[in-house]
Amino acid sequence: MNDLLGEIAALKKQHNAVILAHYYQDSEIQELADFTGDSLKLARAATKVANPTIVFCGVHFMAETAKIMNPEKRVLLPDLKAGCSLADSCPADRLYRYQEMLRANGRRFQTVAYINTTADVKALSDWIVTSGNAEEVIRRVPADQEILFVPDRHLGQYLQEVTGRQMILWNGACMVHEIFSVGDLLAQKRQLPGAKTIAHPECPANIREHSDFVGGTEAMIRYVEGFREPADFLVATEANMLWQLQHQTPRHHYHPVPGITCACNKCPHMARNTLEKLRDCLADGGPEIDWRPEFGRARAVLERSLLN
Ligand code: 13P
Ligand code: SF4
Repeated sequence: MNDLLGEIAALKKQHNAVILAHYYQDSEIQELADFTGDSLKLARAATKVANPTIVFCGVHFMAETAKIMNPEKRVLLPDLKAGCSLADSCPADRLYRYQEMLRANGRRFQTVAYINTTADVKALSDWIVTSGNAEEVIRRVPADQEILFVPDRHLGQYLQEVTGRQMILWNGACMVHEIFSVGDLLAQKRQLPGAKTIAHPECPANIREHSDFVGGTEAMIRYVEGFREPADFLVATEANMLWQLQHQTPRHHYHPVPGITCACNKCPHMARNTLEKLRDCLADGGPEIDWRPEFGRARAVLERSLLN
């Protein structure tokens, strides 16, 4: 393990690379990263780094976003197959046909896409949101337009509740957040009656309604920091997030809410990135995210949505 960490450090120096890691990466990867963050923080960090090479430890749409914002930089992803069930649920050709059908029916709407989408879907959208800025962006959509929200129906429902804006919802979901067990959560709450439940807005309503706080991963960090005395938190998001919460605010106790089929609910796509693959991609200079012409339109939508 120490040899591997030494190799990664040497290769990083040799290639003047910076490592960005999402909070859902394994703890060893988060520990050695130069920046950790949620989707919004990492997308913004990717616009500020000076290094010519970015190694993105996250899933494909995140590395693609980093490339879109940095056409001149080399963006590497340790495993190109690290996908996302949400991005997969909304292929660009299906979205285009659906938008055309709405237009043919005289509907006036703007398309708001969660950042968990491909560049082609971003290019077909008017706005891009993350869990960190979604409410703010939704409030910027003109009131005389309907909103087509893609692809996460649970995040969309949550945004309808908090903003009061009705939306046309795409029928996608995150395979990790969709399977938290409400029965196990209620049992945990009985065992730890003083515990606060914190849930990601990608969770379905049956989990959100039993939660004290609903927010993205960065908002969760701020929420637990606000408790000065040690407390218990039941955490309904990808289980690697518990490492980051523990790392930043160690005075509390964090308990993962189990999934329906597992005690510890982890994203199989994020898990494709390993320390070995991180070392290999630095050594080989790949896999790399290549620039494609549709990135240009996606970039304009990302800039107006995320950088303001
Ligand atoms: P955030 O990073 O916005 O909290 O979203 C979680 C997620 O599912 C990323 O894939
Ligand atoms: Fe996609 Fe869900 Fe995995 Fe995030 S946790 S990358 S939304 S499948």
